[in-house]
Amino acid sequence: MLALEDLHVHYGRTPAVRGVSLNVERGEIVCLVGPNGAGKSTTLLAIAGAVAAAGGTIRLDGAPIVGRSPEAIARMGLSLVPEGRHVFTQLSVEENIRLGAQMRADRAEVEQDFQRMLVEFPFLKGRLATTGGKLSGGEQQQLVIARALMTRPRLMLLDEPALGLAPLVVETVYRILRSLRDAGLTLLVVEQSTHRALANADRLYVIRSGAIALHGRSADLDEDAVEQAYFGYARTASG
Ligand SMILES: Nc1ncnc2c1ncn2[C@@H]1O[C@H](COP(=O)(O)OP(=O)(O)O)[C@@H](O)[C@H]1O
Ligand SMILES: [Mg+2]
Repeated sequence: MLALEDLHVHYGRTPAVRGVSLNVERGEIVCLVGPNGAGKSTTLLAIAGAVAAAGGTIRLDGAPIVGRSPEAIARMGLSLVPEGRHVFTQLSVEENIRLGAQMRADRAEVEQDFQRMLVEFPFLKGRLATTGGKLSGGEQQQLVIARALMTRPRLMLLDEPALGLAPLVVETVYRILRSLRDAGLTLLVVEQSTHRALANADRLYVIRSGAIALHGRSADLDEDAVEQAYFGYARTASG
């Protein structure tokens, strides 16, 4: 569904992404995991068309998308949930959800989708008139996922959805992401935690200094090997 080949992105003269190749198949959760500054957010922004690629190709269902506008890429079925959640704190919860559907003209189906969000995220039901800023961090993360779902994406990109959340809330968020995957959605999720990536992704890519250091199926990867790739050194063998 999504294929990156030799993607390069620079900020001015500084390279941030240096030849990343990865792919995401329909119906899987893929994690892009790496330390702070590795180039994870830049990779997602380049896929969504929000930063320009300096080289390489990005294909969505086979169609090259480098150079297309973020709006055009969104219309192809891609939705980005950026880092930091971006709830509109002064707007009501309902307005926040409905913002996701502002590009859609199919009113009856938007209404169905809105009702579905209240089933999918039951806590939203009693909070529709509350301003977004009054929700907890975990509730805000679920709200932005609901907003993104209102665009009817086929592919969802999430940038550090677990950031700043308590462990139990992180588990709730990932349970939602896994159930979306089970319902047929395709997800590319940026993570800083190798543990969470291994626990939740079907496959993962470790990115360090703008390049992929290791990739594979979570079930096949050894946690120590993932950490070595992540930190960029070989640990002293123990035992
Ligand atoms: N807007 C920007 N201008 C200049 N440099 C940036 C900008 N955004 C990120 N960078 C740099 O690009 C590199 C990759 O950043 P980023 O993609 O945000 O990494 P990550 O999401 O993995 O933490 C880092 O060295 C970072 O300092
Ligand atoms: Mg980032």
